[in-house]
Amino acid sequence: MRRHSFVSLIALLVAVSATCLSCNGSGRQRSLLPDDDPNWYRSAVFYELFPRSFRDSDGDGIGDLAGIREKLSYLDDLGISAVWLNPIYPTPFFDSGYDVAGYREINPEYGTMEDFDNLLESAHRAGIRVILDLVFNHTSDEHPWFVESRSSLDNPKRDWYQWADPPFDYECFNPMNFQFGLERWTLDPVTGQHYFHHFRPQMPDLNFYNPEMREALLDVVRFWLYKGVDGFRLDVGHMYFEGTEGCEHLPETHDFHRELRTLVDLFPSRAMVGEISGPPPDVLSYLGNGTNELHMVFNFPLVTMIYPSIWTGDRWCLEIGLDRSHFSKPPGGQMANILGNHDFFRPDGLLFGDSGRIKLAATLLMTLPGTPFVYYGEEVGMANGTATVVDYRDAARTPMQWDGSPGGGFTEGTPWIPLSPNWETHNVAVEEGDPASILSHYRKLIQLRKQSEALQSDHASFIDPGSRSVLALVRGEGESAIVVLTNLKKSMVEGIFDLSEVPWPEGEICNLLGEDGSSVILNDETRGHYPYSLKPHGTMVLAPCP
Ligand code: NOJ
Repeated sequence: MRRHSFVSLIALLVAVSATCLSCNGSGRQRSLLPDDDPNWYRSAVFYELFPRSFRDSDGDGIGDLAGIREKLSYLDDLGISAVWLNPIYPTPFFDSGYDVAGYREINPEYGTMEDFDNLLESAHRAGIRVILDLVFNHTSDEHPWFVESRSSLDNPKRDWYQWADPPFDYECFNPMNFQFGLERWTLDPVTGQHYFHHFRPQMPDLNFYNPEMREALLDVVRFWLYKGVDGFRLDVGHMYFEGTEGCEHLPETHDFHRELRTLVDLFPSRAMVGEISGPPPDVLSYLGNGTNELHMVFNFPLVTMIYPSIWTGDRWCLEIGLDRSHFSKPPGGQMANILGNHDFFRPDGLLFGDSGRIKLAATLLMTLPGTPFVYYGEEVGMANGTATVVDYRDAARTPMQWDGSPGGGFTEGTPWIPLSPNWETHNVAVEEGDPASILSHYRKLIQLRKQSEALQSDHASFIDPGSRSVLALVRGEGESAIVVLTNLKKSMVEGIFDLSEVPWPEGEICNLLGEDGSSVILNDETRGHYPYSLKPHGTMVLAPCP
């Protein structure tokens, strides 16, 4: 009997260690990564892609996981280190996949779980990490949890959602979310009660006050972590708890983020980025003390300031944006910088199709402090689409423009939504061979960022460039420090920048960006003050010459 228990114990230990080996970084898929670095997300360049529109491998007009796999070498050549996949789960598509009908399954239109495993393995082989969208605030009304919950007043999952009779204790209507309708409580005829939803009626909100439900969500996280995904993007991470105490940013929501972080930290080299809206201090609060909530939050305080600075040609808005984000965050926390995403209009539209301005925006994305996220197609200057299938945000969700063929190289069939109007002129095939293209600009900048310790660092400080149209930043510290001068105006700028307060070695200064038309003049007489000229929308990335 005792011998039998001993053998069982050994068997149990072997099984547990085997499970652990596959989850902790030495498992099948993760071992394919070239490195294991808990800080990988700080130096990474991310690429957000909308799976339905990236590449259709089977000609049905809908992008799929096998299609993404086909294009990994493109992402690798571009210098991308991690992709964020918008929801890949089953969905009735009332909100383009953000209405999830199964947290551990794959949307059959996109492929199978085997396709996902293959994609993850191939991405890791290419040194590209993969993060998934976690949509935890709500599910689809077709999710089995809601189907159970609505079935009767005494169903065990009844309390996993928020049910009530009028008058309601809270409404939580946010005018910013007008596209989801005006009502936040919908009557369910099955039991005659109403359920709460921040978004569309087909997207009931989960009840985070229910501990069993929260544990079920943590199990979803475990499921994907054991599979080897590298992290998550958290959809509306500030909205989890709501009630009579408020609708967003409740202290209980922070408690849940801390619990999530503790779980994720059990798995080496994973990272989370949060979609958090609200006033900048609220956004930053989800970085916790810098190590105990989200690894990164999207830099909405900055992106809303990048465009006004480019429109006006004045750095003031950018300075405010940086002040409210990078310069206010807790040490250890990291900002995730963007120019757009699947909810915004594309930079091409916001910058009037002006390629100089579009390149300038890309320059800022790649040289400002924070981790850059490129939204698919931004790198070729894709325009907004004009057709609507779900809502106005489809403008930024049209098929990726690979070439000038009728399906844009996205599909051999009929795309689920028409291509954007500029697919024949702005596509990968056309731009690849053109050194002056937007794509070549992105490639050059991403390579520069990946080679530059200073650009990857957290350190940034302003210096005086002698002109309001120029943003001048010292990036990095000590011997690896560099100076980035960016002309926000559409005309030539001349000035003198002041490095007198910055430790900087004597000697020649080199422009790492290698662009013509901008220059800096070494001046022995006024030490530390360098006359320069910058071409329209031009940038110099200056370092002591080797
Ligand atoms: C934020 C997502 O980015 C957006 O696309 C979606 O509609 C809402 N959350 C609801 O999930």
